Amino acid sequence: MCGIVGYIGTQQAAPLILEGLTRLEHRGYDSAGVAVLGGSKESALRVAKKAGRVRDLTDDLPKRFSGKVGIGHTRWATHGPANDVNAHPHTDTKGDVAVVHNGIIDNASTLRAQLAEDGIDLTSDTDTEVLAHLIARSTAETLEARVAEALSAVDGTYGLAVVHADFPDRIVVARNGSPLLIGVGEKEMLVASDLAALIRHTTMVAHLEDGEIATLTAGGFTTYRADLTSTHRTATEVDVDPATYEAGEHESFMHKEMLEQPDAAERVLRGRLDERFGTAHLGGLPMDARETRAIKRVKILGCGSAYYVGQMGASLIEELARIPADAEAASEFRYRNPVIEPDTLYVAVSQSGETIDTLLAVQEIHRKGGRCIGLVNVVGSAIARECEGGIYLHAGPEVAVASTKALTNMFLGFALLALQLGRVRDLSISDGKRLIAALLELPEQIGQVLEREEEIGEIAQVLADAESLFFVGRVRGFPVAREGAQKFKEISYRHAEAYQTSELKHGPLALISGDVPSVAIVPQDELTDRNVGALHEIAARGGPLVVITHPDVDLGEIECRRLDVPRSERELDPILLTIPLQLLAYRAALHLGHDIDKPRNLAKSVTVE
Ligand code: F6R
Repeated sequence: MCGIVGYIGTQQAAPLILEGLTRLEHRGYDSAGVAVLGGSKESALRVAKKAGRVRDLTDDLPKRFSGKVGIGHTRWATHGPANDVNAHPHTDTKGDVAVVHNGIIDNASTLRAQLAEDGIDLTSDTDTEVLAHLIARSTAETLEARVAEALSAVDGTYGLAVVHADFPDRIVVARNGSPLLIGVGEKEMLVASDLAALIRHTTMVAHLEDGEIATLTAGGFTTYRADLTSTHRTATEVDVDPATYEAGEHESFMHKEMLEQPDAAERVLRGRLDERFGTAHLGGLPMDARETRAIKRVKILGCGSAYYVGQMGASLIEELARIPADAEAASEFRYRNPVIEPDTLYVAVSQSGETIDTLLAVQEIHRKGGRCIGLVNVVGSAIARECEGGIYLHAGPEVAVASTKALTNMFLGFALLALQLGRVRDLSISDGKRLIAALLELPEQIGQVLEREEEIGEIAQVLADAESLFFVGRVRGFPVAREGAQKFKEISYRHAEAYQTSELKHGPLALISGDVPSVAIVPQDELTDRNVGALHEIAARGGPLVVITHPDVDLGEIECRRLDVPRSERELDPILLTIPLQLLAYRAALHLGHDIDKPRNLAKSVTVE
């Protein structure tokens, strides 16, 4: 999704901003641009922007592009195609104001019509351009007041940064629904939409809240409410190793992050398991034992892969705590005017903590008086702040668009939640201990699956040649199949569809042929025999089969490529069955020569509807 970087200080702004933009490339974008103030004429505003990669922009940057104040952007097209004109920054007619913007201005077409009526010639198709014109025509005394006046006319979401030739000593930024962080350096200040762009310069960071405006000068920053009264925000030290934002010896971040899973899994469990009482201790949950007992239902909300892991989480909660639980796509939730029940525990699950659909689902719950906790990776993110408490996932920064380690930690977060809920209710201490023992083994078992990358890579090569694939599983195995299909289609661009194995004969079996392979999830559980029966049906129709299964499962004479994963306790098996599917997708994409960390059309965090 779009990215913002701004700089004001003692160094040349453009190279620093361009380097910062490359750190945001993983978020997905289709064009890039930069604006600087300064150079020979102290306040001249210069803009360079281009469809394509940051590298293309850097190569084509005009020679005279100096200045110590600047803003830059990577755009992911929403209003109008990806071309040079629609790329940010956008300027007013005179070229005094430049704006970069993440988010969507909902009333842009009304504002565009009003501006056109007033004789202003809009040059791009974007919603953002209106902001530049609105700021330029304000006659308020300060840039902050001009920005605030422009924003008062706007409905929608934004993270934005503005420079103005008449105010060359500052950048003014504002946030509403789209993240912005201010980085504090020595006689220099930065702003960015993601920590990744700041971390090599400073670890002193302030998060802007929704509705806030801030001024950055070389010497510091000031934050305000929309009415320009001060909010006195201060920066705090973030505890992140800049190396986590480097791929190092790995050819992609996805590969690095998959291999980090054993360590990440240990982190999410650390200090949260109570072996004596066979339970989990989650300090961030806002309920005591009595309130926990009163929960009648659990509803999990997330998007994409987070939604599929939410389905795994719902199974865990229902099995261990015997509370009815289900998961729903957060992107649909608020549009069906959901009934919010006081005795339901709502759980928002998100890696980034910025996914707009999930955030708006939480806000809908709150608007109707419900209670929502978060399973979130990014500390201090919008969803984490919006929830009444929850569980941080401690997966570390995840850069690759295709989520892996964060999803594994989501599953483990749900396991901890299910254990705690279960032990307050009817889960026995021996069952609690049984699960804790299995959880403690998981990091090593995940490592054992990851060691089989080469073997999985061979299977992946065969699958990569198919235009269309099925991923099938039942009950606990179905969300595993959904996540497997999701990973595969995201980065290999092959059509991969997930089905309940039991549903095959109700329709999809018609598509099974020698050209359509199926990846089947067949754990050793109460459904093994039925699953094996379905494999026979696929094989009988000539469908190539890859079976992700457990060592004791007898597949008889079925012709297939078999991949055994270590067994855990039945409830926890889904995560070990998921890991080979990550590798399968990854190796297929590698075989096809795709850009694994920047899959086409996708963005890391989806902060616009
Ligand atoms: C898949 C993937 C997406 C995200 C989804 C939610 O690999 O990464 O489907 O899971 O966009 O993102 P978060 O978890 O940041 O809310």
